[in-house]
Amino acid sequence: MTGPQDYASETGAFPAVRLAAPEPSWAIEADVAVVGSGVAGLTAALRCATAGLRVVIVTKALLDAGSTRWAQGGIAAALGEGDSPEQHLADTLVAGAGLCDGTAVRLLVEDGPDAVRRLIDTGAVFDTEPATGRIELTREGGHHRRRIAHAGGDATGAEISRALVAAVQEVRASGTPGGGSIETVEHALVLDLLKDAAGHTAGVSLHVMGEGQHDGVGAVHAPAVVLATGGMGQVFSATTNPAVSTGDGVALALRAGAEVSDLEFVQFHPTVLYLGPGAEGQQPLISEAVRGEGAHLVDADGVRFMVGRHELAELAPRDIVAKGITRRCQEQGVEHMYLDARHFGARMWAERFPTILAACRAHGIDPVTEPIPVAPAAHYASGGVRTDLAGRTTVPGLYACGEVACTGVHGANRLASNSLLEGLVFAERIADSVVDAAASADRPGPPVTGGRELPLPPAETRRAVQRVMTRGAGVLRSAESLAAAAAELAALDPAGSAAARPVKPAEPGTETWEAANLRLVAAVLVAAARRRAETRGCHWREDHPDSDDARWRRHLVVTLDPGDPRALTVRTTDGTGFPPVAAPEALAAEDAADHPAQPAAEPEETP
Ligand code: SIN
Repeated sequence: MTGPQDYASETGAFPAVRLAAPEPSWAIEADVAVVGSGVAGLTAALRCATAGLRVVIVTKALLDAGSTRWAQGGIAAALGEGDSPEQHLADTLVAGAGLCDGTAVRLLVEDGPDAVRRLIDTGAVFDTEPATGRIELTREGGHHRRRIAHAGGDATGAEISRALVAAVQEVRASGTPGGGSIETVEHALVLDLLKDAAGHTAGVSLHVMGEGQHDGVGAVHAPAVVLATGGMGQVFSATTNPAVSTGDGVALALRAGAEVSDLEFVQFHPTVLYLGPGAEGQQPLISEAVRGEGAHLVDADGVRFMVGRHELAELAPRDIVAKGITRRCQEQGVEHMYLDARHFGARMWAERFPTILAACRAHGIDPVTEPIPVAPAAHYASGGVRTDLAGRTTVPGLYACGEVACTGVHGANRLASNSLLEGLVFAERIADSVVDAAASADRPGPPVTGGRELPLPPAETRRAVQRVMTRGAGVLRSAESLAAAAAELAALDPAGSAAARPVKPAEPGTETWEAANLRLVAAVLVAAARRRAETRGCHWREDHPDSDDARWRRHLVVTLDPGDPRALTVRTTDGTGFPPVAAPEALAAEDAADHPAQPAAEPEETP
């Protein structure tokens, strides 16, 4: 299948379920609210403004503080001599382990080279070959060719972010010739989607941090909302993601009634600087480009253990390398392996990988003279809010792009450096679709207020979720570990069993809203991972070590049950394409275990 769907016909008004929060005390009017300021959000915002729309960008920290700026390796596109979109497509499909949507991947790889050229026109400066002036390309895992454009050596995301933020600041200051504008709201945590009485998107509620519980809660009223909130790596104890990556977009979309898909496919980056068994929060990434330039993975005895495990050895797709490291650690009873790139020499380290060199040295390791201790850590959510090829979710007026979205491009495992490209290509498609809708649609009615408020867990829930997920749903999973994780997450749900409910629901605030989002997305991830009784891509089940195409070459699509937001509905698609056509299949047995029969949760309705 895949072709743009009219999702508006699939979803009617959804009974409002929202985070406990004060009603918005102020509002900004706009044509489109873009939530997030990475490559996807800023690209969508610029293109909408260029077409004459009034855009408001809501971002959780500063405009340049999202995940994009941490991207090291680069952006993949078939720009090199002898390369072609067809070869890029083939590598992407192999990495995706049978679950990529072929049409979405084709759009990505065919539009990719021009999208990179448009990014250059916007002001991004990539590294070039001194002799020819052509863009310098490197290799990363799963790519059979040199195809990764980079900037500042290993600071690609920072350069892309710099260029896009500069372009946005220009529009903020002077507007666009077509009458468009961009306003920004920084340090703002998005709370929930607003809808009108017909169930159409009418904007978002948000909280400007530091502005107090009541004055800080406001809204952007807009008929289109683009979620570009990035990932959810903070559900695990150790991740390459920044502290702001708490799954806010996926959680918002679930509460709004949208479908999410493929959440079980969390990519663990194989080479993250190992800082000790108790390391928590954002960890320094050692880009795959270091292996692309010839670094070797070795065990404690100096043996290159990836050789012979895959034809590409250290440059096998990321899931295979992460599994190879985990297995070797188990065999040797150790916590990490080593990445050896001493042979690069001091000059190459300083010129090609200055960011990584500085990060290693800051932690007392000198890669010029010693191997770098590395271990896998949570890196990228291959799944997310399900969209069609125009970026539309199953809720009318709600769009998603970048890591928060599941466009079908990544399947069961994202190919290295495809994410910046996906953010670019699909953000442009979304902008076109928002602009078309703006020309034809009536504005939505006023947002419906009230609705069922979900009680908030205490702030400490964040650490508890991270520990549960790291123990039970990390690189290696089993039915047992996932069942334990599901039960522990249910016990952390303040809307769950009376025994688990805190004496007093926690007060609304940034930490408790984030904790609620993390707990919800973790529960969905675990529900999908329990259901998928096979090993595929970055979902590795100890108790089901093989892939099972007959049963599982399909997607798992999860929604919150509108009648009982404690329960999740999981259904499967009839094949690799979207959208799902199989009948909804409730998780009855597992839900009964996770949520022992209770009288309905106490009414949390607000007037
Ligand atoms: C890396 O540089 O290894 C990360 C690139 C990516 O996640 O695509």
